Amino acid sequence: MRLYWFKLLGVLTALVLAVVFYGQYYVWLVARNSIQRTVAKPESLDKDLIGHLQFYGSHEDQKKSSTAKLRNIILMKEDEPLACPSSLQLRAKEDSLYKTLFNFDIPLLMWDSHMTESNWRVLSKRPVPYGWKDLPREDVSSTLKLLNDSANQMMFEFKPPQSCVRCAVVGNGGILNGSRKGKEIDEHDYVFRQNGAITKGFEEDVGTKTSFYGFTVNTMKNSLIAYEADGFLSTPKGEAIQYIFIPSDLRDYVMLRSAIMGVPVPTGTDKGDMPSLYFGPETSPKKFKLLHPEFLLYTRDRFLPSEILNTEYARLYMPSTGGLMLLSALHSCDQVSAYGFITRSYNLYSDHYYEKKKQTLEFYANHDLLMEMKLWEMLHKKGIMKLYQRGQDNDKEGKT
Ligand SMILES: *[C@@H]1O[C@H](CO)[C@@H](O)[C@H](O)[C@H]1NC(C)=O
Ligand SMILES: *[C@@H]1O[C@H](CO)[C@@H](O)[C@H](O)[C@H]1NC(C)=O
Repeated sequence: MRLYWFKLLGVLTALVLAVVFYGQYYVWLVARNSIQRTVAKPESLDKDLIGHLQFYGSHEDQKKSSTAKLRNIILMKEDEPLACPSSLQLRAKEDSLYKTLFNFDIPLLMWDSHMTESNWRVLSKRPVPYGWKDLPREDVSSTLKLLNDSANQMMFEFKPPQSCVRCAVVGNGGILNGSRKGKEIDEHDYVFRQNGAITKGFEEDVGTKTSFYGFTVNTMKNSLIAYEADGFLSTPKGEAIQYIFIPSDLRDYVMLRSAIMGVPVPTGTDKGDMPSLYFGPETSPKKFKLLHPEFLLYTRDRFLPSEILNTEYARLYMPSTGGLMLLSALHSCDQVSAYGFITRSYNLYSDHYYEKKKQTLEFYANHDLLMEMKLWEMLHKKGIMKLYQRGQDNDKEGKT
């Protein structure tokens, strides 16, 4: 009799352990996948995940149980493609420095549900671009309210058939002149470009595909003026293109709101501008993404805390547009290749790939391009991304 109970107890224990470990395994898989896939997780998914984890963690919840919950987890697992085995996240986590710098849970994008009291309290204390200080609450809230599509919450709505999301980020640096990297760039799942991103006439070197075009209204309009003579006659447009707004000032919120409403800009610096001139006729919120001010602060403080912040130019300083696009890609893609970004051999090349006569790159106090250069180089050395380099010291790497 005693032996019988003993055996039964053994079997039961084994059964319970099996179920618990089985569950933990799927929770782990789901958590891993959803962290990898969602740029900033929608609140509801967050709660679900936390719910699942608590469910497996606590005895009380386990009693209330539900095979339904377990079934949900298994279904989710079947819907999810396998996690990318060579993702940059895994590589970053293996590096002693970058594992503390990268936070893949940082909110990258901002959308309607971020218009909360607590966000207002925090962000209204920080000046742009890192917050909303001195911005009329009505302008911020009416803009965020329009970002109510699932596309506003994640960088990639559609996952490529293979398990790794491969991105190319194309800067406008002169190093791309004669590079013949166009085909390689276009072969990526997603291609990021920004500011004066001319492709017409330079297809062989820079490719033709654009998935995301990033800018502040200021840099976009300045590029249209400054590079018009070089052939930048209009911003990239097309059905497949989405626009990434960097909220550097009130005018970015006002332009974004007008773009989704399909009306001329009603007030401010850009008063009277028709957004369709920049973004084409489609006004769906799906077309637009807004970087989170918190993400901008995180990139500055963790990756690019320049000496400039200790000078009288501190208020002018922020990471460059290209730098922000590259960091956005590094926080959403599994694999990132950077082309046309500053490298050690920058003085061999013109400022941009499209200039007809070589122009030297100028350094201004609003960015720290030398610091960005060292960051890109280091991320390349650590295998976290691939940086296109060529010229004197980097001949070998450039040709691979
Ligand atoms: C988003 O908001 C607009 C305007 O308020 C509304 O017409 C639309 O149905 C909403 N879309 C979603 C997905 O909730
Ligand atoms: C671009 O490359 C070509 C061929 O190497 C060179 O002749 C030209 O001067 C370069 N353009 C600029 C602006 O540097």
